[in-house]
Amino acid sequence: MAAEAEVLVCSGTSCFSSGGPDIYQNLVEKIEKRGLTEEISLVQTGCFGFCEKGPIVVIYQEDNPGGTFYCQVESEDVQQIVEEHLIEGKIIEDLLYEEPGSGHKVREYENMGFYKYQQRIALRNCGLIEPHNIREYIARDGYRALGKALTEMTPEEVIDEVKTSKLRGRGGGGFPTGVKWELAKAAEGSPKFIICNADEGDPGAFMDRSILEGDPHSVIEGLALGGYAIGANQAYVYVRAEYPLAVDRLEKAIKLAKELGVLGENIFDSDFDFNVEIRVGAGAFVCGEETALIHSVQGDRGDPRGKPPYPANEGLWDQPTVINNVETLANIPQIILNGGNWFSHIGIDESTGTKVFALAGDIYNTGLIEVPMGTTLREIIFNLGGGIPDNKEFKAAQTGGPSGGCLPKDKLDISMDYDSLLEVGSMMGSGGLIVMDEDTCMVDVARFYLDFTQDEACGKCTPGRVGTKRLLEMLNRIVNGEAEENILDKLEALCHEIKKTALCGLGQSAPNPILSTLKYFRDEYEAHVFDKYCPAGVCKELSGYKIDEDACEACGVCKEKCPVSAIIGDKEEGYEIDPEICESCGICEEECPYEVITRG
Ligand SMILES: Cc1cc2nc3c(=O)[nH]c(=O)nc-3n(C[C@H](O)[C@H](O)[C@H](O)COP(=O)(O)O)c2cc1C
Ligand code: SF4
Ligand code: SF4
Ligand code: SF4
Ligand code: FES
Repeated sequence: MAAEAEVLVCSGTSCFSSGGPDIYQNLVEKIEKRGLTEEISLVQTGCFGFCEKGPIVVIYQEDNPGGTFYCQVESEDVQQIVEEHLIEGKIIEDLLYEEPGSGHKVREYENMGFYKYQQRIALRNCGLIEPHNIREYIARDGYRALGKALTEMTPEEVIDEVKTSKLRGRGGGGFPTGVKWELAKAAEGSPKFIICNADEGDPGAFMDRSILEGDPHSVIEGLALGGYAIGANQAYVYVRAEYPLAVDRLEKAIKLAKELGVLGENIFDSDFDFNVEIRVGAGAFVCGEETALIHSVQGDRGDPRGKPPYPANEGLWDQPTVINNVETLANIPQIILNGGNWFSHIGIDESTGTKVFALAGDIYNTGLIEVPMGTTLREIIFNLGGGIPDNKEFKAAQTGGPSGGCLPKDKLDISMDYDSLLEVGSMMGSGGLIVMDEDTCMVDVARFYLDFTQDEACGKCTPGRVGTKRLLEMLNRIVNGEAEENILDKLEALCHEIKKTALCGLGQSAPNPILSTLKYFRDEYEAHVFDKYCPAGVCKELSGYKIDEDACEACGVCKEKCPVSAIIGDKEEGYEIDPEICESCGICEEECPYEVITRG
């Protein structure tokens, strides 16, 4: 006889695409077949944050309130989960998470390094509730903050609470949310609007998508609280078309919120009316910039404009408008419920609360983590991330996406907060955090980001359109071994010029990856420019393998072993490596019996 159990199946985008729906369906069928529908409840949740280990299934039972966390579950495992775990009460060791390093199998996710150092406020419901099921949201205090605000607080008191919390915008700029709301409330003009920025264009960032997919009501509630505070009755959520699951869950959540009366007219019997509509964007990075976003919501071309006037005074259809990021808004209900003071004591002085990071790159545990502001980079990489695989050395961490910078090893103890990151030439951005090991070429990293920003620049201003193109050309000359001797000075000077003169944040921050790598990894640039050598062996033109023709015995072993057929020639003519095809794998160097192949 099976004990009562609640089985959570992740249905965030990543688990969804790696078999989540099949696993869920299979569970439904097997549980029905074994007549266990009374004892076992099945829930499809949003993302747990540990997508790399997905699809994820978590089973809660009375004798194990911490839950059993199963990773990389496949549809074929469902039979075993039902028969062995749910019916016989046995743990399936093979599906448990293995802690990197120690190799220990861990059953409860609270005991896994990836989770145990987290503090989840914005992600509080992700992976725990069925996303659009409003009753599950309400069961976890959902819409209580809105009820409290509408029945017990004036708009000014709501703003004061947010100001006390010292919450700063999680979309990149870090502007104090309470102050932004106060400015919009004081601004003349009617109607006023509030917009949720869910454009999320930073490569690798997916915290906003996860919140919308896993807990859409928290964003709707945050918007309603913001609307009440500033005097807006209409909200828009601007979300990219590449996020269909998020759009679908948000649509359903809005519908359910209307049916239950937490959206619509006279909410909680007050005189406050509030509606939320979705606007789907085409996915241009620049449309995340608030003035471009406003144009796009209006149905115009998504070009940025100069500021001031700021949107709080002249925003959507020239009316006072607040724009807040998804993660910012997801924090708001908790601030109103628990008080601004509670929030301000989490994190550090000028960066309060928590921050969600998208941890990626050369690290054991990748995924979404939420930690108190002020957690060090070292703690994130080694405690939550499990360190660097294959005994490689840490080389750098890139924070803040295309607008951010790269931090070297001696910055591992930096406090991850807005101001500390700015001080060392990087930034928080939306929370992208990419870890890089010793095999990374920092010039190539800078080129990757420039390639992205150059491609995404809208073309409206010359520094953004032409300046970023010239930067990219210079970086290309450097990695191709064609750079002139004074190129680094020219590169640096142009970076500063673009930062000063570009019209919008995209151009103003585009040089950051170059400036930070020039600052901390200048020797690598110099090796490329002066020695025509890529120390990490990444830049093809500067790091290929070569056969010493005079010493080669023409045995042909290298040609036989090369996995991509990059070695041409024969025993009569001799052998050479085609640099266009060579992948720099090093196999030929290892295999040559005469040791005449070297990297150079
Ligand atoms: C090029 C560029 C792209 C941006 N993309 C986003 C984005 O995808 N999401 C976001 O919330 N903010 C983005 N921002 C910041 C917004 O302009 C704006 O500051 C933010 O949405 C305000 O919300 P917050 O105060 O809650 O952070 C971007 C800014 C720039 C310059
Ligand atoms: S910096 Fe200029 S060209 Fe680039 S996105 Fe902004 S306005 Fe457009
Ligand atoms: S390094 Fe690898 S890819 Fe290049 S020639 Fe040698 S075996 Fe082939
Ligand atoms: S394995 Fe070494 S000796 Fe033999 S053909 Fe290749 S380079 Fe020459
Ligand atoms: S989508 Fe399942 S853990 Fe992220």
